[in-house]
Amino acid sequence: MVILVTGATGTVGRCVVEQLVSAGAKVRALTRRPDSAAMPPSVEVVAGDLEKPESLTRVFAGVDRMYLLAAGATWQVLSRARQADVRQVVLLSSATAGFDGVGSDGDLGGQFHRRAEREVEGSGLEWTHLRPGMFASNLLDWAEAIRIEAVVKAPYDAARQSPVHELDIAAVATTALLSDGHQGKIYTLTGPEALTKTEQVAAIAGAIRRDIRFEELAPEQWREHVRDAMPPFVADWLLRLWAHTMTTPEPVLPTVQRILGRPPRTLATWAADHAAHFQAAP
Ligand SMILES: NC(=O)c1ccc[n+]([C@@H]2O[C@H](COP(=O)([O-])OP(=O)(O)OC[C@H]3O[C@@H](n4cnc5c(N)ncnc54)[C@H](OP(=O)(O)O)[C@@H]3O)[C@@H](O)[C@H]2O)c1
Repeated sequence: MVILVTGATGTVGRCVVEQLVSAGAKVRALTRRPDSAAMPPSVEVVAGDLEKPESLTRVFAGVDRMYLLAAGATWQVLSRARQADVRQVVLLSSATAGFDGVGSDGDLGGQFHRRAEREVEGSGLEWTHLRPGMFASNLLDWAEAIRIEAVVKAPYDAARQSPVHELDIAAVATTALLSDGHQGKIYTLTGPEALTKTEQVAAIAGAIRRDIRFEELAPEQWREHVRDAMPPFVADWLLRLWAHTMTTPEPVLPTVQRILGRPPRTLATWAADHAAHFQAAP
């Protein structure tokens, strides 16, 4: 039995590959760039593009289950999977799929993920949706400023989020792929603490044993600050999400504990795991 992992070179997908391999599963990894995929030796690496379903003709042969990233032409990808007798799909969706439209600016990215979920639900495959909240790995965006100046400049300090470690998202995905009882389930995944940005900075400062200054910017100042680092629509999307989170903090949910039988990793653990990204060169 082969398990196909899409997004295999991504933050979560790479952990899914490693955890499946550790569990003894036969893994096929999909990537658009097989030459630089750097997968474990036992993994079969296949080239394919989720936005070009015609590139996936041979990808599903012998596949029983798949971890699917919500990218590209999900419906066509799923219909090819079904034709090839794939039985089960675990979808990496987003907590925003559970939000209703927020304010007059509309949706917070949820429509895209909810559409992918509906396509999975209508595909005829057995399914499980993973809806993580904020990835702890988003904080790698702060790494350069912390390394160079030991400062983080961001808006909406008080917008509490519950960063979730990619290893925990992957562990839930792996559990859903390898054990029974997850069919038709929607798992919203969070870390164990809802933290302000000052508290998130403190977790990183603790891991690298260095003071890091937090400077709160007004939303417009921050938009200007990141002008060269991200497209304006992404900055606007983040500002809407954080403004929403000011009044509706991300929850802390027991899902990871329930499925894995242990608490989710803390942000302090994530920061220790990734300390090298934040440490200034000696
Ligand atoms: N960041 C957050 O806080 C957050 C929260 C909830 C949900 N999410 C969702 O998580 C997903 C991203 O997951 P991630 O962080 O693990 O990935 P990532 O690190 O952003 O990497 C993207 C992955 O997607 C693959 N990919 C992108 N477009 C593709 C295409 N057209 N065909 C095939 N593969 C494609 C890339 O593969 P190659 O480049 O090797 O082809 C790569 O493995 C997104 O759907 C995002 O909305 C993120």
